[in-house]
Amino acid sequence: MSELNLVLLGPPGAGKGTQAERLEEDFHLPYIATGNMLRAAVADGSDLGKQAQEHMKAGRLVPDELIIGLILECVEEDKCRDGFLLDGFPRNTEQAERLDAAMQKLDRRLNAALLIDVPDDEVVRRITGRRVCTKEGHVYHVETNPPKHDGVCDIDGSKLIQRDDDASDVIRERLSVYHEQTEPIVGYYEDRGVLKRFDGTRNPTEVHDHLRATIATLRLEDEI
Ligand code: AP5
Repeated sequence: MSELNLVLLGPPGAGKGTQAERLEEDFHLPYIATGNMLRAAVADGSDLGKQAQEHMKAGRLVPDELIIGLILECVEEDKCRDGFLLDGFPRNTEQAERLDAAMQKLDRRLNAALLIDVPDDEVVRRITGRRVCTKEGHVYHVETNPPKHDGVCDIDGSKLIQRDDDASDVIRERLSVYHEQTEPIVGYYEDRGVLKRFDGTRNPTEVHDHLRATIATLRLEDEI
């Protein structure tokens, strides 16, 4: 079977994590989410967590030297031999170039950068109402996707909380970081012919259907 090396792109709150959970099941790809890895490091109190915490709380990117080596190591692991789904990386041009270089060294290439597009005002609405579970990071929204029992994860029964960086002033900072530092890589991937755009304002099932169909087509094209 052909490889599926995929990157999910989009502003904070676009629905990358929501869609990744579904795509992981559809295509059985190792899911590498930099935000989840960093939050776990903060919770563990590791050196990485200690160095990342202040940047994350303020809505800034953590320094490249903390994240690039870590993610490239994951991509090079045996479990990613048949592909991967990256969420939250790359987040600036330096990270995109380093990922390309690592892939080339392995004689592999990125199949697609999947951009979930959502306007800023919708981002703010979504993130303000987001709740995540403390065990696995399962995602809810107080209005559009509430849990069955208030404050409790449907899947693993753990407590639901609001992320530190989901405070409204931090959301604004994360959005401006996205527009300044991450959006330029949309053009980078467009120039390389791997960018696929998705309307993230549709409901989660519609976004998922579109993503799944696109990825299935990519796989078929690669096998022909
Ligand atoms: P990270 O965890 O990657 O955060 P993010 O990119 O800001 O994305 P989010 O997790 O906020 O949103 P999402 O798109 O996954 O949306 P979700 O599915 O939850 O990064 C956090 C921080 O870590 C960064 O700020 C930075 O400091 C650091 N970091 C991470 N990677 C880094 C890197 N490579 N370099 C440097 N620093 C790095 O959905 C949001 C809400 O909307 C939910 O409530 C959900 O239920 C709802 N929703 C989802 N889809 C829909 C829909 N279609 N319609 C209506 N509601 C929806």
